[in-house]
Amino acid sequence: MFEGHDTTASGLSWVLYNLACHPEYQERYGCSGCSMPFSTMCIKESLRLHPPVPAVSRRCTEDIKLPDGCVLPKGNVCLISIYGTHHNPAVWPEPQVYDPHRFDPENSKNQPPQAFMPFSAGPRNCIGQNFAMAEMKVVLALTLLRFAVRLDESRPVRRKPELILRSENGLWLHLEPLGAIHSH
Ligand code: HEM
Repeated sequence: MFEGHDTTASGLSWVLYNLACHPEYQERYGCSGCSMPFSTMCIKESLRLHPPVPAVSRRCTEDIKLPDGCVLPKGNVCLISIYGTHHNPAVWPEPQVYDPHRFDPENSKNQPPQAFMPFSAGPRNCIGQNFAMAEMKVVLALTLLRFAVRLDESRPVRRKPELILRSENGLWLHLEPLGAIHSH
């Protein structure tokens, strides 16, 4: 229950927040012209900047030698920071900037394979990731078809990492009906 609900709720809240911060991407939202739908790029970039699951843990089943010579001994439990990886400036230039074009297939082809791992990696990664992406695409498309999302300036947003990445006092946005333009 936890895996399938809080995660997508967090993912959706943060992508709406990121698009509220960047109205220019909301305007582009319905357009295509790229081999990857722009909606997928917006969602992926939001999962990078605000990964719903900020960290996972693993126990080493054997000694692991790191490139700098350090050894993680067998049996050790390691915390792997997805949030940290997604904000590593060596991998993601200007990591705090929300830019869906990072996930333009042209730009992302040289990305190291583990640079983006909101659904974790390896044999115990997220079993629901395709479903989650589909769910978020549908909800986002139906929302942006009818509304413009705007920030509520009176309620500042402060990230709060629990097991899931949340916002301290909720994530408040204004929804403005789009009206005539989209009614047909
Ligand atoms: C944006 C949405 C989601 C995110 C970011 C997410 C993220 C993750 C992550 C990071 C893990 C790995 C945990 C670990 O390695 O310890 C995981 C595992 C899992 N997820 Fe998701 N998840 C999402 C949506 C879903 C949905 C919609 C479902 C079910 C329909 C789901 C079901 C699961 C299950 C069952 C596991 C455990 C798999 C295993 O241990 O073999 N998740 N998820």
